[in-house]
Amino acid sequence: QERLRPLIAGNWKMHGTGAALEQIARLKTLLQEAGDIESEVLICPPATLLDRAARRAQSSAIRIGGQDCHADPGGAHTGDISASMLLDAGASHVILGHSERRADHGETSDIVRDKTKAALAAGLIPIICVGETEAERLAGTANQVVGEQIDLSLPDAFGETPIIIAYEPVWAIGTGRTPTTDDIAHMHAHMRNLLVARFGTAGESALLLYGGSVKPSNAEEILRTPEVNGALVGGASLLADDFFSIIVAA
Ligand code: G3P
Repeated sequence: QERLRPLIAGNWKMHGTGAALEQIARLKTLLQEAGDIESEVLICPPATLLDRAARRAQSSAIRIGGQDCHADPGGAHTGDISASMLLDAGASHVILGHSERRADHGETSDIVRDKTKAALAAGLIPIICVGETEAERLAGTANQVVGEQIDLSLPDAFGETPIIIAYEPVWAIGTGRTPTTDDIAHMHAHMRNLLVARFGTAGESALLLYGGSVKPSNAEEILRTPEVNGALVGGASLLADDFFSIIVAA
């Protein structure tokens, strides 16, 4: 199989005000100095920064994404943001079904599937997050849990849009702990099998990102793991120099 172009995505979560845009400017400089970079680079800032981040990222390889969208194209949903609003603000991608949204906002896989359909309809590329809790891993049900999340969170058709899944074990997020590369390889192989069985060639070319305590010191090892096609980075994406080291490691 030909090597898929890796995607290194940063999820800023609820971090960053205007001052954080300097990190985008810095990353732009680092990327320009580095010249040819194989990976695709994405930053998902809070919604309040999207428009300004997209302007800062102009004429660079950095793409901008949202962290969530509503399943409806518009309507009476105070505080929510539609997929087309993200697109209008300069986003190309949107993270959906992050475990923090599944936990904090009761997002079920059914809801995530509806949001994914809305993102696709608006022309955004969804990044769908899945991952088991520590209790589920200890109980030996990680494969089953992730398999169910994939089954239910993905719609049946992606059209021409690439399928992107981020495997983020909940217990590895923001904890400094990561699964062994063997465990990551097994889970990614499991996900690949499910996606190929359901989507055929679109499943073969799906990007499988790993997320959870990815940092400059472990990025190379994780990104070298079979079936890992990139990373979804939280904490280490907040500083341009750290994030750049991870991009270079890919
Ligand atoms: O979406 C990325 C995230 O959940 C991982 O966070 O801080 O462990 O890299 P972190």
